[in-house]
Amino acid sequence: MIYFSVNANPSILLSFFFNFHRIAVVTGANKGIGFEISKQLASNGVFVVLTARDVTRGNEAIEKLTSIGISNVVFHPLDVVNGSSINSLAEFVKAQFGKLDILVKCIHRSLANVMLQID
Ligand SMILES: NC(=O)c1ccc[n+]([C@@H]2O[C@H](COP(=O)([O-])OP(=O)(O)OC[C@H]3O[C@@H](n4cnc5c(N)ncnc54)[C@H](OP(=O)(O)O)[C@@H]3O)[C@@H](O)[C@H]2O)c1
Repeated sequence: MIYFSVNANPSILLSFFFNFHRIAVVTGANKGIGFEISKQLASNGVFVVLTARDVTRGNEAIEKLTSIGISNVVFHPLDVVNGSSINSLAEFVKAQFGKLDILVKCIHRSLANVMLQID
Protein backbone atom coordinates (compact mmCIF):
# COMPACT_ATOMS: atom_id res chain seq x y z
CA MET A 1 0.00 0.00 0.00
CA ILE A 2 1.19 3.51 -0.79
CA TYR A 3 0.58 6.09 1.89
CA PHE A 4 0.64 9.84 1.40
CA SER A 5 0.53 12.36 4.21
CA VAL A 6 -2.35 14.79 3.94
CA ASN A 7 0.28 17.47 4.40
CA ALA A 8 2.19 16.42 1.31
CA ASN A 9 2.53 19.06 -1.40
CA PRO A 10 -0.25 18.41 -3.94
CA SER A 11 2.09 19.28 -6.81
CA ILE A 12 4.47 16.53 -5.71
CA LEU A 13 1.64 14.03 -5.40
CA LEU A 14 0.60 14.99 -8.91
CA SER A 15 4.08 14.33 -10.18
CA PHE A 16 4.04 10.90 -8.54
CA PHE A 17 0.77 9.91 -10.14
CA PHE A 18 1.85 11.29 -13.49
CA ASN A 19 5.33 9.88 -13.37
CA PHE A 20 5.62 10.09 -17.11
CA HIS A 21 6.41 13.77 -16.54
CA ARG A 22 9.90 14.87 -17.31
CA ILE A 23 11.43 16.69 -14.36
CA ALA A 24 13.27 19.99 -14.80
CA VAL A 25 15.21 22.19 -12.41
CA VAL A 26 15.49 25.85 -13.42
CA THR A 27 17.86 28.12 -11.51
CA GLY A 28 17.40 31.88 -11.07
CA ALA A 29 13.77 31.30 -11.99
CA ASN A 30 12.03 33.96 -9.93
CA LYS A 31 12.34 36.42 -12.82
CA GLY A 32 13.81 37.06 -16.24
CA ILE A 33 14.54 34.29 -18.67
CA GLY A 34 14.54 31.64 -15.90
CA PHE A 35 10.93 32.47 -15.04
CA GLU A 36 9.88 32.41 -18.69
CA ILE A 37 11.63 29.09 -19.33
CA SER A 38 9.91 27.62 -16.25
CA LYS A 39 6.56 28.82 -17.59
CA GLN A 40 7.19 27.38 -21.04
CA LEU A 41 8.45 24.03 -19.75
CA ALA A 42 5.50 23.66 -17.36
CA SER A 43 3.06 24.70 -20.09
CA ASN A 44 4.47 21.88 -22.18
CA GLY A 45 3.92 19.19 -19.56
CA VAL A 46 7.29 19.19 -17.83
CA PHE A 47 7.17 19.16 -14.02
CA VAL A 48 9.32 22.14 -12.98
CA VAL A 49 11.29 22.65 -9.80
CA LEU A 50 11.48 26.44 -9.86
CA THR A 51 14.45 27.60 -7.82
CA ALA A 52 15.53 30.99 -6.53
CA ARG A 53 17.95 32.12 -3.85
CA ASP A 54 15.26 34.18 -2.14
CA VAL A 55 12.31 32.23 -0.70
CA THR A 56 9.85 35.14 -0.91
CA ARG A 57 10.69 35.91 -4.54
CA GLY A 58 10.55 32.20 -5.38
CA ASN A 59 7.13 31.74 -3.83
CA GLU A 60 5.88 34.88 -5.59
CA ALA A 61 6.97 33.35 -8.90
CA ILE A 62 5.06 30.16 -8.08
CA GLU A 63 1.98 32.25 -7.25
CA LYS A 64 2.25 34.03 -10.60
CA LEU A 65 2.29 30.69 -12.40
CA THR A 66 -0.56 29.18 -10.41
CA SER A 67 -2.61 32.35 -11.02
CA ILE A 68 -2.49 31.58 -14.74
CA GLY A 69 -3.40 27.94 -14.24
CA ILE A 70 0.06 26.35 -14.16
CA SER A 71 0.21 23.89 -11.26
CA ASN A 72 2.97 21.46 -12.23
CA VAL A 73 5.61 23.58 -10.53
CA VAL A 74 7.11 23.48 -7.09
CA PHE A 75 9.53 25.89 -5.43
CA HIS A 76 12.81 24.94 -3.81
CA PRO A 77 15.44 27.44 -2.67
CA LEU A 78 18.79 27.36 -4.43
CA ASP A 79 21.79 29.66 -4.20
CA VAL A 80 24.15 28.36 -6.86
CA VAL A 81 27.26 29.56 -5.03
CA ASN A 82 26.33 27.81 -1.78
CA GLY A 83 27.33 24.14 -1.54
CA SER A 84 24.88 23.21 1.19
CA SER A 85 22.07 24.86 -0.77
CA ILE A 86 22.99 22.77 -3.84
CA ASN A 87 23.12 19.59 -1.73
CA SER A 88 19.73 20.39 -0.24
CA LEU A 89 18.21 20.76 -3.71
CA ALA A 90 19.86 17.54 -4.90
CA GLU A 91 18.45 15.63 -1.91
CA PHE A 92 15.01 17.11 -2.57
CA VAL A 93 15.02 16.08 -6.24
CA LYS A 94 16.32 12.62 -5.42
CA ALA A 95 13.78 12.04 -2.67
CA GLN A 96 10.73 13.44 -4.46
CA PHE A 97 11.35 12.41 -8.06
CA GLY A 98 14.27 9.99 -8.17
CA LYS A 99 15.46 11.52 -11.42
CA LEU A 100 16.29 14.77 -13.18
CA ASP A 101 15.75 15.11 -16.92
CA ILE A 102 16.46 18.79 -17.56
CA LEU A 103 18.71 21.29 -15.80
CA VAL A 104 18.45 24.92 -16.97
CA LYS A 105 20.98 27.32 -15.48
CA CYS A 106 19.73 30.91 -15.66
CA ILE A 107 21.79 33.28 -13.58
CA HIS A 108 23.71 36.45 -14.04
CA ARG A 109 26.49 36.15 -16.60
CA SER A 110 29.09 36.85 -13.88
CA LEU A 111 28.21 33.40 -12.50
CA ALA A 112 28.27 31.68 -15.88
CA ASN A 113 31.22 29.51 -14.85
CA VAL A 114 29.49 28.08 -11.78
CA MET A 115 29.16 24.34 -12.31
CA LEU A 116 26.05 22.59 -11.07
CA GLN A 117 26.17 18.85 -10.64
CA ILE A 118 23.13 17.04 -9.35
CA ASP A 119 23.90 13.30 -9.21
N1 LIG B 1 16.88 37.83 -20.72
C1 LIG B 1 17.20 37.35 -21.93
O1 LIG B 1 16.47 37.52 -22.93
C2 LIG B 1 18.46 36.51 -22.13
C3 LIG B 1 18.73 35.97 -23.38
C4 LIG B 1 19.85 35.17 -23.55
C5 LIG B 1 20.70 34.92 -22.47
N2 LIG B 1 20.43 35.48 -21.26
C6 LIG B 1 21.34 35.19 -20.16
O2 LIG B 1 20.60 34.54 -19.15
C7 LIG B 1 21.11 34.90 -17.86
C8 LIG B 1 19.97 35.47 -17.02
O3 LIG B 1 19.46 36.64 -17.66
P1 LIG B 1 18.16 37.39 -17.12
O4 LIG B 1 17.86 38.46 -18.07
O5 LIG B 1 17.08 36.38 -16.81
O6 LIG B 1 18.74 38.01 -15.74
P2 LIG B 1 17.94 38.51 -14.45
O7 LIG B 1 16.57 38.95 -14.81
O8 LIG B 1 18.88 39.44 -13.76
O9 LIG B 1 17.81 37.17 -13.57
C9 LIG B 1 18.92 36.59 -12.99
C10 LIG B 1 18.42 35.55 -12.02
O10 LIG B 1 19.55 34.93 -11.43
C11 LIG B 1 19.32 34.89 -10.04
N3 LIG B 1 20.56 34.74 -9.30
C12 LIG B 1 21.57 35.64 -9.18
N4 LIG B 1 22.53 35.13 -8.35
C13 LIG B 1 22.11 33.90 -7.97
C14 LIG B 1 22.66 32.88 -7.13
N5 LIG B 1 23.85 33.01 -6.50
N6 LIG B 1 21.96 31.73 -6.97
C15 LIG B 1 20.77 31.56 -7.58
N7 LIG B 1 20.18 32.48 -8.38
C16 LIG B 1 20.87 33.64 -8.57
C17 LIG B 1 18.57 36.17 -9.73
O11 LIG B 1 17.99 36.10 -8.46
P3 LIG B 1 17.63 37.45 -7.63
O12 LIG B 1 16.32 37.95 -8.16
O13 LIG B 1 17.56 36.96 -6.21
O14 LIG B 1 18.74 38.44 -7.86
C18 LIG B 1 17.58 36.12 -10.88
O15 LIG B 1 16.53 35.25 -10.60
C19 LIG B 1 22.25 35.91 -18.11
O16 LIG B 1 23.48 35.22 -18.07
C20 LIG B 1 21.93 36.44 -19.51
O17 LIG B 1 23.11 36.87 -20.15
C21 LIG B 1 19.32 36.26 -21.06
